[in-house]
Amino acid sequence: MRIDYSLLTRRTFLNTLLGGWFIAFFSGVIYALIKFAFPTLGKEPDFVVLNANDFLDIPPNSVKPFAWGGKVGLFFKKADGATTALKGLCTHMECNITYKQEDRKFYCACHEGWYDENGKNIKGPPPKPLEFFNIRTEGKSIIVFRKGTKVELSKG
Ligand code: FES
Repeated sequence: MRIDYSLLTRRTFLNTLLGGWFIAFFSGVIYALIKFAFPTLGKEPDFVVLNANDFLDIPPNSVKPFAWGGKVGLFFKKADGATTALKGLCTHMECNITYKQEDRKFYCACHEGWYDENGKNIKGPPPKPLEFFNIRTEGKSIIVFRKGTKVELSKG
């Protein structure tokens, strides 16, 4: 049956359909290949090992960033000298946070979210506190790990 005033010819319709199918098929193949080649891509680790010399000497009331998988972690030395580590992402929409030394608070510039130095969300849209990690010093290494994770480093 022929539609007299159609904007689309049958050939154009079928070519578009076929083209869409090819794009969907090859997108799936490329995605599968990337996931196969980089299985940990986008995943966060359970722990990371840092060089203690690079982090333990930072001044009190300051942070130093480190790589938490593909995201940012912050090594934090509080004003009293106690050290801890946290994920440097806002709990609202995962923007990077910064530490405001003069206020002793963490700040997210995306939507003006604030957290106190213990990571509690105190102002703005963040719905929950920051994620703090556990840390452990072993020799010249600092092991930063998720709470509840058991970390066994191989000796040698
Ligand atoms: S992403 Fe941080 S306040 Fe919105």
